[in-house]
Amino acid sequence: MVYSPLCIVGGGAIGGLISMFLYRGGVTDITVYYRSWSSIEAVEREGGILVKTSGREYLIPVKPRHYTLPGDKCDIILNCVKAVDVKDTIDLIRNISHDHTLIVSLQNGFGSLELLEEKLGYHRVACGVVNCGALRVAPSVVEERGIGEIIFGQRKYVHPLLLELAEIIRRGGCPSRVTVYLSKYRWLKLSINAVINPLTAITRSRNSIVLTPWGREIAYNILEELVKAAELDGVKLELDRLYRYVLRIAKITSNNYSSMLQDILRGKLTEIDYINGVIVEKLEKHGLEARINKLITNLIHLIEHSTSTNLAKT
Ligand SMILES: NC(=O)c1ccc[n+]([C@@H]2O[C@H](COP(=O)([O-])OP(=O)(O)OC[C@H]3O[C@@H](n4cnc5c(N)ncnc54)[C@H](OP(=O)(O)O)[C@@H]3O)[C@@H](O)[C@H]2O)c1
Repeated sequence: MVYSPLCIVGGGAIGGLISMFLYRGGVTDITVYYRSWSSIEAVEREGGILVKTSGREYLIPVKPRHYTLPGDKCDIILNCVKAVDVKDTIDLIRNISHDHTLIVSLQNGFGSLELLEEKLGYHRVACGVVNCGALRVAPSVVEERGIGEIIFGQRKYVHPLLLELAEIIRRGGCPSRVTVYLSKYRWLKLSINAVINPLTAITRSRNSIVLTPWGREIAYNILEELVKAAELDGVKLELDRLYRYVLRIAKITSNNYSSMLQDILRGKLTEIDYINGVIVEKLEKHGLEARINKLITNLIHLIEHSTSTNLAKT
């Protein structure tokens, strides 16, 4: 069965990549909501989102709309905005959803899924852990930077459309499945983001910086605290194994520029509070210290602040 229309909120790097999987998986009516009119104009001008992957180009004929102008109700809504923007999508999603709409949070880190669940209902909201990379090189052009797997799950229910969504995305070229161990996969993804994102953003380097002796030592320290936070959340992770896993991912993606580094270079707010900040919050809530992750979080906020101050002067 193909759902029509299906909506993507946020047509950036991940929204663009997902639109390609959906289209190739058989969904032809895809509405994409944007924040800026310039993005909408670019997508209208080009006739859709151009996705470059494995030496090929696909023009995905999506219908762009502004987030303040809700269109038809959707059976499935994929939320692909940055974590810091999720709060601004709630009204739109209320307007374009019905009682049985499946709403999927695809943000990295923790906090976005929780906010959507609270505002829109646990039974309707699911999470997608995206182990893929993409880069938006122009408002209507996205380059794929690695296709791993998308793992879907819900914390309290299993929405009937979730399995079908995973099947569509699989058909569209991306390995995808539904798990009952959602928390474990979220923490595994957080471990990658909590190490690679801030270390590359602070040093303005490619992911390979993590593999230096200094990078490895800080990575281990970040993960020591992350393992404790995960345990408080009911997820048991083995530190040395997790460390080797994160280094392996850093090696495979060694030439990539992380999304946090890209945010810093563009003078945008990062997702640090949803990544390392979450480790701090979880440990401090239980009276435990998270000195390394607090330092990392504060350093990124300092860089955000200095970037915005510098930009304001130019
Ligand atoms: N990029 C990756 O490789 C990757 C991998 C895994 C997970 N993720 C996660 O995916 C999420 C999105 O990241 P991204 O890299 O795709 O970001 P991005 O390229 O910056 O795209 C964000 C999109 O959200 C839109 N947007 C912002 N506020 C909106 C609103 N209120 N209503 C509707 N649209 C809105 C923006 O619209 P405009 O175009 O109009 O500005 C833009 O199209 C993040 O949480 C990230 O951590 C990314």
